[in-house]
Amino acid sequence: MSIVVAVSGWDPDTWAERLQTELPTRKIQTWHEDRKFSAEERADIRYLLAWKPPRGLCAKFPNLSVLFSLGAGVDHILQDSDLPSCPLVRVVDPDLTARMGEWIVLQTLSHLRRASQYAAQQRDLLWQPIPQPAASAVTVGVLGIGVLGLHAANLLKAIGFPVIGWGRSRKTLDGIKTFAGHSELNAFLCETDILVSLLPHTPETEGILSIDLFRQLRGHDALGGPVLINAGRGKTQIDHDIVQALKDGVLSGASLDVFENEPLPMDSELWTQPKVIVTPHVAADSDPAKLASYIAAQIRGFEERGTLHNIVDRERGY
Ligand code: NDP
Ligand code: OXD
Repeated sequence: MSIVVAVSGWDPDTWAERLQTELPTRKIQTWHEDRKFSAEERADIRYLLAWKPPRGLCAKFPNLSVLFSLGAGVDHILQDSDLPSCPLVRVVDPDLTARMGEWIVLQTLSHLRRASQYAAQQRDLLWQPIPQPAASAVTVGVLGIGVLGLHAANLLKAIGFPVIGWGRSRKTLDGIKTFAGHSELNAFLCETDILVSLLPHTPETEGILSIDLFRQLRGHDALGGPVLINAGRGKTQIDHDIVQALKDGVLSGASLDVFENEPLPMDSELWTQPKVIVTPHVAADSDPAKLASYIAAQIRGFEERGTLHNIVDRERGY
């Protein structure tokens, strides 16, 4: 009944140590490229905790009971066509949700209060006011009004922004006008000044943030036009279209935490666009200290009561 941690780009030992503290009697192992598991070891593994696992790895454990994504997104797992049929569980955690809310508020206010422009003016020793509309005059449209999108929307609403949301299914939310499905996307965009995307990457959302979509945004004159903020997934956007939209004035600014290819290639024009704020996929980090207790609680619930929360719908892809 052992557990294996398989992460790429993160330190597996920190995750294993944290989990061991939560589940002291369990055998917890870490996967790395040189690690070969015997057939007996593989058969003993019941839980796989994964972040960007190599393709084919999950299928190597024949008795897997649960596959855990160590992030809120699961595209990094679902891209493997050879997955076991056990439940796939994702992270829904107050710490991760709060971090995302902070990043979205920071970026939205940075654009509203023209933070990049003032920083540039300071470098030039320039004392010059720039138009700054009130939050109440700028509508933020949240694409993907799920766990993270709704939390961010509520924070923005509390600051005074009118907030609207778009999702796949219809929702009734207090003080947030909502739109559902592709038939209502255009109406949503026509009312949006600052677009925040927290969409997962699925076959349906791939490339949705395109120049055609940006052209439908309303944008606020005092901000110089529409703004894009994306912390969902890079494959939902077309990087080249964002550069073009900024050059053509279709977008007046952007904050991007995610990119079609990560790390963002050195030759991407997004690095040097003055109107773009780039962060390296850190909007909401998965903190091992917080998430180990979430995973341990899920394992205990599964073994003691047969319950699991936040199971991914593989058909929908999120
Ligand atoms: P949820 O599943 O709770 O929310 C996803 C939202 O997207 C839902 O509102 C869903 O609609 C909507 N959606 C999905 N597909 C479509 C579609 N085809 N058309 C319209 N709406 C759609 O996920 P979370 O809020 O927890 O996380 C969102 C994403 O954020 C993750 O998948 C991940 O990619 C990203 N993320 C990024 C991080 C970072 O650091 N940059 C950190 C953590 C997550 P409906 O409600 O109707 O189902
Ligand atoms: C996540 C992420 O999906 O960090 O949690 O991107």
